[in-house]
Amino acid sequence: MKFESQVVHAGDRKRKKGVPIPSTTPIQLGTTYFYDSAAKLDRVLGHEEEGFSYARYANPTNDALEELITQLEHGHGSLATASGMSAVQIALQAALTDRPHSIVASGSIYGATVALLDDVLCPFDVKVKYVDACDLPALEQVIRDRQPGCVFIESISNPLLRVPRIDKIAELAHAAGAALVVDNTFGTPMLMKPLEQGANIVVHSVTKYLAGHGDVLGGVVVSDEPHHETVRRLARVVGPLLGPFESYLTMRGIKTLALRFERQCQNAQELAEWLGKHACVERVYYCADPNHPDAPAIRESFAPGLFGAILSFEIKDAKKQSILEFMDRLRMIVPGTSLGDVHTLLLYPLIASHRNVSPKMRERMGIRENLVRIAAGIENVEDIQADLDQALHSC
Ligand SMILES: Cc1ncc(COP(=O)(O)O)c(C=O)c1O
Repeated sequence: MKFESQVVHAGDRKRKKGVPIPSTTPIQLGTTYFYDSAAKLDRVLGHEEEGFSYARYANPTNDALEELITQLEHGHGSLATASGMSAVQIALQAALTDRPHSIVASGSIYGATVALLDDVLCPFDVKVKYVDACDLPALEQVIRDRQPGCVFIESISNPLLRVPRIDKIAELAHAAGAALVVDNTFGTPMLMKPLEQGANIVVHSVTKYLAGHGDVLGGVVVSDEPHHETVRRLARVVGPLLGPFESYLTMRGIKTLALRFERQCQNAQELAEWLGKHACVERVYYCADPNHPDAPAIRESFAPGLFGAILSFEIKDAKKQSILEFMDRLRMIVPGTSLGDVHTLLLYPLIASHRNVSPKMRERMGIRENLVRIAAGIENVEDIQADLDQALHSC
């Protein structure tokens, strides 16, 4: 099946003898399971026979969602988790199992991931070194010096939309015996498939494009064969699973991912071109820019004709107070802290995604006080432009 058909059908309609098959996967809330013999339960608990035994291990609704996302990302298996951050945590732990507890991470990643590395993992003696993932010689040097167990990057960086060469980074990581973990939240499996380019584990905040309607908090870890078993083993103990209701909503959301994302990308591209000519805008960051510093990586790894649905821009001479006032003037666009929803959302990194990143690190990341980020929704693009125009007018 092609991507547009997979998003509608994969994972659904699992066959069970003699039981009518619902056309979409139902929500199953049961935490334990009844078998017609204790011997069978014994075999299921001992993994000698397939089956569900306890909700912390697996659940039929999650199972269908996991199969769907595994197919979309071309992975071996998936784990649906209660948040994107718990997906990142489990992925990093799985990547470091049996390896040196040292991580080389892109210097341009989501603020909470920086907090996870610095505040949660460092006290457990995990060493973290940040480097520009788009500077391959610098990355190669750091990997050679550190000999990490894991390299962590985002497929499209937040909020400046840099695009590292996943294939080349996978080669460098593997040469050092490290696993490559890629956060593909901004990319979506429609735009790019990092596992095909050599990544070992892909994570998503499904809160964003996959669920897509602003009503689910969730994550997913998609792994190659060697890491999938480790991920599931860790999850059986820790229990970070997505709830069945959220799994159901996520599957429902993914069915329209192809339609939504194509429209969101079109809207983002039109907005980027329009903002580039706007008198109040100093600079626009968008992946379709022919002068984008990572144009070769974009050509290589993005699906043809799509450049992502996020753009960022700097407002001329704006300081924090005038940006807050600009946000208050928006009438349709939601000023908030997320992305990937059907509605257009504007985020101010300084007070949201990068609030807890030190000013020094923000400066190193290139995030200026006048930078805002837009996640394009599926509305009519003229309405989005009109709203931005009236809000920018008095900047
Ligand atoms: C790139 C990226 N990764 C991970 C996360 C964390 O996801 P969640 O909020 O679902 O835990 C976010 C949240 O904004 C994100 O933008």
